Amino acid sequence: MSSDNVVRVGVLGCGNVGAALVGLVGERSSAIEARTGLRLEVARVAVRNLARDREIAIGPALLTRDAQSVVDDPGIDVVVEVIGGIEPARGFILDALKHGKPVVTANKELLANVGSELFAAADHAERDLLFEAAVAGGIPLIRALRESLAGEPIRRVLGIVNGTTNYILTKMSEAATSYADALSEAQMLGYAERDPTADVEGFDAAAKAAIIASIAFGAKVVAGDVYHEGISKITGADIAVARRLGYAVKLLAIAERAQDEISVRVHPAMVPSGHPLASVRDSYNAVFVEGDAVGSLMFYGRGAGGRPTASAVLGDLVDAAVNLRKGTFASLGTLGRATMRPIDQTSAEYQLSLEVADRPGVLHTVTGVFARHGVSIRAAEQEGLGDDARLVFITHTALEADVQATRHDLRDLDVVKQVGGLLRVIGSGT
Ligand SMILES: NC(=O)c1ccc[n+]([C@@H]2O[C@H](COP(=O)([O-])OP(=O)(O)OC[C@H]3O[C@@H](n4cnc5c(N)ncnc54)[C@H](OP(=O)(O)O)[C@@H]3O)[C@@H](O)[C@H]2O)c1
Repeated sequence: MSSDNVVRVGVLGCGNVGAALVGLVGERSSAIEARTGLRLEVARVAVRNLARDREIAIGPALLTRDAQSVVDDPGIDVVVEVIGGIEPARGFILDALKHGKPVVTANKELLANVGSELFAAADHAERDLLFEAAVAGGIPLIRALRESLAGEPIRRVLGIVNGTTNYILTKMSEAATSYADALSEAQMLGYAERDPTADVEGFDAAAKAAIIASIAFGAKVVAGDVYHEGISKITGADIAVARRLGYAVKLLAIAERAQDEISVRVHPAMVPSGHPLASVRDSYNAVFVEGDAVGSLMFYGRGAGGRPTASAVLGDLVDAAVNLRKGTFASLGTLGRATMRPIDQTSAEYQLSLEVADRPGVLHTVTGVFARHGVSIRAAEQEGLGDDARLVFITHTALEADVQATRHDLRDLDVVKQVGGLLRVIGSGT
């Protein structure tokens, strides 16, 4: 085999994803060679701690603590960044591109914050910067948006992109487990980190939503543009009410085009039980893409985990190797400026629950507040709680600002003991 047919890969990071990738390259290199004529060879692997036990055997000669030397090594053709975080990953990627090396990364945090700088550097270097694994792990969503749907005006992308929170919500719904117990279970199974903030407060999903919106709409959207609420305030009662009304509670990432604006948000939502997203259980991810001509598409699978994520990295690595040898690269084009629609200017149906004094006239007083703000009620139910009652309302499609104003004024009523959280209803036409 000529040396041109060997593509030498430098892997930065050998944790969950990096170790699985090194294993997969070993397992698949003959099949990849048969298909592409190129032999991928993991030539160097950079880690932080040389003494750490690894899940796979890596020859000591391959391992180094000096990631910069891997990036700078003229013998390395392609760099894979699976360290995570912003620095030093950003610097390594920029340097690799400057040296004319294509880069594959799984780093959502990096792309959601400084993606446009990196994409511009890749275009300038005329090299690939591929990142399939950064969103929804093993699910080939980014390639579909970039390539298969390149001619399709995307209206909306809607999905479950965080497996940890989906696992917790599934346990709360199916086994009536409390939020705290479901979170502990997720931590025991390795789905949730010891500090679960990034997952349960929606930061992780917001980073993915920013990347999805950038690719789907060709616009510069960063994590800070994304409105996000997590699931830590969702109670068993919220889920029980939703179930009784025929809905599942899911943490959704939503990116949609609204006239000339883009709305990108992450929040818990009630999804009708007949909607395909309602039946996505445990740590699975699923993403719905709605296009003008193609209609609705759904992508489903493992959104995290070493091997599924490494599978997506390997797909990118094969593409990057083939493109490098052909002397070509895939450009995202220039990302335009996006005008973001603020959350209070978005519309949805809403579920709002209240605890009120159970006496005559209360319903009339409460519904009067909804009417004053032009929020029309689609369904209501009442449940006795001793001297009090729980009222649950589902609105017709309403403006978020009007629903928030309604909620605010309801708190001021003497007869209202408590105003529960707001759950948006998504998937029944909105
Ligand atoms: N895990 C998933 O399911 C998943 C899914 C999708 C995307 N991702 C993304 O994939 C990336 C990697 O995730 P992971 O779960 O594999 O992380 P991880 O298990 O924490 O591994 C990180 C690796 O980077 C190494 N490292 C850290 N700083 C370094 C430095 N300065 N120089 C060289 N090596 C360094 C660490 O070395 P030591 O081993 O010596 O500590 C470790 O091997 C992240 O961007 C993450 O967001 C992960």
